[in-house]
Amino acid sequence: MAEHEPSIGASDDWYTPASIFDALGLTFDLDPCSPGAGHWVPARNVYTKADDGLHRPWTGLVFMNPPFGGREGHVPWLAKFLEHGNGIAIVRAYTSSDWFHRVVVPKAETILFPRGKTQFVPSPDLEAELQRKAAAQGKVWRNAPGHGVVLIGMGPVASEALRKSGLGFYVVARQPQMEAPRHD
Ligand SMILES: C[S@@+](CC[C@H](N)C(=O)[O-])C[C@H]1O[C@@H](n2cnc3c(N)ncnc32)[C@H](O)[C@@H]1O
Repeated sequence: MAEHEPSIGASDDWYTPASIFDALGLTFDLDPCSPGAGHWVPARNVYTKADDGLHRPWTGLVFMNPPFGGREGHVPWLAKFLEHGNGIAIVRAYTSSDWFHRVVVPKAETILFPRGKTQFVPSPDLEAELQRKAAAQGKVWRNAPGHGVVLIGMGPVASEALRKSGLGFYVVARQPQMEAPRHD
């Protein structure tokens, strides 16, 4: 049984593969939606669910893989990320969706379409739950790549890292701000 693409409203605990950070070569100032300090996202500071990172101030270079939180639960996170204007966000490549055109298209500076599908990593608890559910049906759960994703770059540091990453097709949607990033 392959389970990889969390359904809408399903667990938030699908983590970004470490290989993406290896390719980006950045240390971020903030992961605003993190399982906790010590997770492999290279970020100096994190907000967890207990902090409610959506409603906290964000500073510096941000890496954001938003929680799902229902049908369009990621949209307020994306809006805040784009307004913040400094960092990289990863979201599913639902490029025909209303939210993509309404929220991402007007503001995104750069977009990278990775080659291949991205295999998110379940938390240990989530993996155990998936194993239990599969076993109850006489199956074995195994992880597998899900849908394609896009990486959205805001600000010159993020966009340059995406450009150099070699992860896939890099597109400049609008000129990255060349002055100092906002909200530092
Ligand atoms: C999709 S995971 C991404 C985790 C990590 N940033 C990564 O990229 O691997 C989303 C994370 O957001 C956390 N989360 C959920 N609601 C949150 C909130 N309101 N504030 C901060 N973090 C939250 C979840 O616990 C989960 O660890």
